[in-house]
Amino acid sequence: AYNLPKDKQIELVRIAQAIATSGKGILAADEPADVMASRWAPVNIENTEENRRYYRQLLFRTKESSHYISGIILCHETFHHKTDDDYTPFPRLLQENGILPGITVDQSTVVLGGTDNEPTTQGLDNLEERCREYKKLGAQFAKWRAVITIGPNSPSQLAIDENAKTLARYASICQQCGLVPIVEPEVSQDGDHDLDECQRVTEKVLATVYKALNDYHVYLEGTLLKPNMVTPGNKSTKQYSIEQIAEATVITFRRTVPIAVPGIMFLSGGHNEENSTVYLNAINRVALYKPWLLSFSYGRALQTSVLHAWKGDKANDEQARNEFLRLAKIMFRHNSASSIM
Ligand code: 13P
Repeated sequence: AYNLPKDKQIELVRIAQAIATSGKGILAADEPADVMASRWAPVNIENTEENRRYYRQLLFRTKESSHYISGIILCHETFHHKTDDDYTPFPRLLQENGILPGITVDQSTVVLGGTDNEPTTQGLDNLEERCREYKKLGAQFAKWRAVITIGPNSPSQLAIDENAKTLARYASICQQCGLVPIVEPEVSQDGDHDLDECQRVTEKVLATVYKALNDYHVYLEGTLLKPNMVTPGNKSTKQYSIEQIAEATVITFRRTVPIAVPGIMFLSGGHNEENSTVYLNAINRVALYKPWLLSFSYGRALQTSVLHAWKGDKANDEQARNEFLRLAKIMFRHNSASSIM
C-alpha cells in the first residue's frame, strides 16, 4: 500500500469498521432493472422505474433499520433517485438515517472466451472516473461481483486467475478514490457438487484473490470480503448438518482470509431466509478462533418476504416495512460475533 497516502488509509479503515461493526450487516438493494424483473415476477409487481424508486424509498425510510443495518448497496439507477416529497437524493437519505451508502460498480458478467461458459465481470473501463463521481455524491463503499462456477470443466485456472485479477484491479481503483471495495468472489451454488468440492474450490479462489490483492498493493484493512458460505450445490444429493456447513465455512476462511480484513459479509446466493439465518448463526458459533466480524450482506434473504407482504400495493407499505425490520433484526440477532471470539 505504499502508494496510498496515510490519510486515505485512515479514511478507508474508518469506513470499513463503521460497516463491520457490532453485529450489523449490509442490505444489498442493488438489483438492476433486469434482475428486479425476475424478483418481482412471482409477486406480480410491475417492473417500472417509478415502482423501483418507490419500493427503495419504502425500505430506506424504515427508520429503525439502522439499529441492524450499517450499509446499503445501491445500483446506478437507485443512486440517482430522490424522495418524492422533498427530493432528497437517496444517498443522503441513507446518511441521514445513519446508514452508509454503497454503490455497485461492476457492469455484470460475460462469457470468458475459451472456457466452458465461465463468467468474467466487466466494468473496469472508466471505473476511476465513475468512482470519483460516486464518492463526490456520497458513496462510501463499492461492490464488484465476480462469479465462479463449479461444473465438470470448471472452474478453470484461467477463470480463477482472471476474476482474481479483475477484483484486485477494481479494489485498487476504489481505494485510490476513497471507496472501501467489497470484494465479492461468489462461488455459485448451482450444481450437484458436494460440500468438500465447494470447500476445495472456495479455498482455491480465496487464496488466489488474496494473492492478487497483494500483487496490486490493495490495503486490506480498508476492504471487506463478500463470499459465499461453503455449502453443497443446490442439486447435490448429499445431506449435511448445519454444523458441518458452518465448520467447513469457517475452516475455509481460516486457511485463506488474512486477519487484516475487518469483516466478512456473506451473500445469501439463493439460500432462503431461514437457511441464511441459521447458517450465519452456526458460523458465528463454531468453536474456532475467528478474527473477523462475520455478518451479512443479503439481497434476497432480506427482501423475499418483504415483497410478498408488499405486493406492489401502497396499502401494504406498513406491513412491508415491518417485515423488513423483522428480517433485519433476526439476521442481527443471529450474528453474535462479539460473544464468540
Ligand atoms: P443475494 O444475497 O440475493 O445473493 O444478493 C447479494 C448480492 O449482492 C449478490 O451480488
